[in-house]
Amino acid sequence: MSHRLTRRTFIQSAAAAGFGLPLIRTNAFASENDQLHVGCVGVGGKGWSDMMETAKSPHVTIQAICDIDDSANHLGRAAEQFPKATKYSDWRTLLDKEKLDALIVSTPDHMHAPVALSAIERGLHVYCQKPLTHTVHEARVLTNAAKKAGVVTQMGNQIQAYAEYRSAVQLVHDGAIGKVKEVFSWQSGSPRWRIVSDRPEGGDPLPKSVKWNNWLGVAPKRPYKKEIYHPFSWRDWQDFSNGQLGDFGCHILDPVSMAIGLTAPDIDQGRRSTDQLGNVDTLGAGQVRLPGQ
Ligand SMILES: NC(=O)c1ccc[n+]([C@@H]2O[C@H](COP(=O)([O-])OP(=O)(O)OC[C@H]3O[C@@H](n4cnc5c(N)ncnc54)[C@H](O)[C@@H]3O)[C@@H](O)[C@H]2O)c1
Repeated sequence: MSHRLTRRTFIQSAAAAGFGLPLIRTNAFASENDQLHVGCVGVGGKGWSDMMETAKSPHVTIQAICDIDDSANHLGRAAEQFPKATKYSDWRTLLDKEKLDALIVSTPDHMHAPVALSAIERGLHVYCQKPLTHTVHEARVLTNAAKKAGVVTQMGNQIQAYAEYRSAVQLVHDGAIGKVKEVFSWQSGSPRWRIVSDRPEGGDPLPKSVKWNNWLGVAPKRPYKKEIYHPFSWRDWQDFSNGQLGDFGCHILDPVSMAIGLTAPDIDQGRRSTDQLGNVDTLGAGQVRLPGQ
């Protein structure tokens, strides 16, 4: 079968393949032999489970894997798991060389938009980890590009697919708790990410397994420092992350926005509301006061 699936057949296949598209309710395939040819960018950390969950479907072929670190916890492990997949350390080369149906993007946040946009512009369906992008502008660009390309996209806030989440949202829609006047949303424990913009001094020797320039990608250049950026700890730094809000806001504010139908913030509207309501910004982080309350 052609590696180019239509939007319709992709949706059908993806639903059964475990991409978890929550609104799709069909297992119908164009043919029993339909396969989604999937590429994965960033296969350590969360990327590992994204790849493994997706690969559970007999209708998925993990065709290409890419990671800037070829050590055992990153590309090494994925290559062992999928020995037939082609290996890359640069996602641009992967996109240039491979004929794929879909791409999974599980890199640190600052690289979501460049990788996802390049894939979408090539007509690939994209599953991209949360937060979708590093800036609001990037999110808007991606949204328009996906619409234009007619591809299927999904962000990796997986709780949207959970029964508990969907039931709670439905209960609010059904009026079970009456009119919602105020929402409190929080994360337990102390804030984990410092989100700082100043940089530590100096650099450390680069491990042989790491392609540092590829890791930096579109971020401003800085020397490699052991253990404070790659892996995982990049969340502390503005150049790569949006700190605690970027890391968890999309999880814990998502059911709020689904339940009460919040749409994207409108700056002008926001200013008007602020003028009308007094200062709506005095609430603590993560608390949302509804317009008119
Ligand atoms: N949905 C969830 O519950 C959930 C949970 C954890 C992380 N995440 C998201 O997943 C993403 C990755 O987070 P993480 O904790 O796994 O980070 P991490 O740093 O632990 O892992 C990132 C992986 O991507 C690789 N990588 C980095 N830059 C790359 C590039 N340019 N090209 C190819 N590979 C690259 C790294 O080597 C590593 O293997 C983040 O966007 C994060 O917000 C989502």
